[in-house]
Amino acid sequence: KSIDAIFKGLGKLYFGTCADQNRLTVTANAEVIAADFGQVTPENSGKWDTIEATQGKFNFAGLDYLVNWAQTNNKLVRGHTTVWYSQLPSWVSAINNKATLTTVIQNHVTTEIGRYAGKVLQWDVVNEMFDESGGLRTSVFSTVLGEDFVRIAFEAARKADPAAKLFINDYNTVEKGVSYAKTTGMIKYVTKWVAAGIPIDGIGAQAHLMAGESKNVAASLSALCAVVSQCALTEVDIVNAAAAEYVQTVKACVDIPNCVGVTVWGVRDPDSWRASNNPLLFNSGYSTKPAYSALIATL
Ligand code: XIL
Repeated sequence: KSIDAIFKGLGKLYFGTCADQNRLTVTANAEVIAADFGQVTPENSGKWDTIEATQGKFNFAGLDYLVNWAQTNNKLVRGHTTVWYSQLPSWVSAINNKATLTTVIQNHVTTEIGRYAGKVLQWDVVNEMFDESGGLRTSVFSTVLGEDFVRIAFEAARKADPAAKLFINDYNTVEKGVSYAKTTGMIKYVTKWVAAGIPIDGIGAQAHLMAGESKNVAASLSALCAVVSQCALTEVDIVNAAAAEYVQTVKACVDIPNCVGVTVWGVRDPDSWRASNNPLLFNSGYSTKPAYSALIATL
């Protein structure tokens, strides 16, 4: 039985991983995803610099590939990500006018999310918008529009795909403890925005963990999950894939009723964005590592 099958037996929606065409065309890698995971998240192909590198010229080739692969292989998709300060083309960063940036966000979100309407379970509509003090990160979005860019993006996303669950996603929100300023800041803002009617369905916690941080995940994640209808761990990887830390992290989601799933950020270590940390569940030969067996044994 795969971790994904165990997850579904526990009432969760998926245990997923990230990929893109470059990974899905590697047979051994695609076989592991087909057998062991229930959801794929585009690692890079859904980001603004790929989707709309030039204003109004959309490139969906990579994301189409992933979504088609998912449909053919009966996998769910987490959309990632429409509004993010990073991997953002310079033509967007150069906008200094509210009306223009509003239209640009609306057009980008509507076109990307609308294209896959009905095919994507969840979208990270806004990614990494908080700073470590729990305020708004400085970006073209916050500088030009203040926090209103959140409403603009989520309202456009809801219209573009009413069936998708709309997430706000960030890092260092479950790593540092429940009183960490970024965690409490995200809770404060999201609570306010949901109360104001902004269509945010979920909070995503990335969970790129350093050694010793997994002990903080359960309490922080339950505090975040308490203010939205759904939550998820969206990009898990852990230094050296310490088995006990993987179990503690994944268990945190399992134990929270509205935590709908866990995504690990890649299949095998050499393909990880943190490759030097060997943070994933499969080694270079696509064999399972001790953390994988520990999860199977414990969940
Ligand atoms: C990373 C990808 O894994 C890399 O391939 C890319 O070079 C940079 O982005 N937070 C996120 C993800 O939300 O999109 C990032 O993915 C990792 C950090």
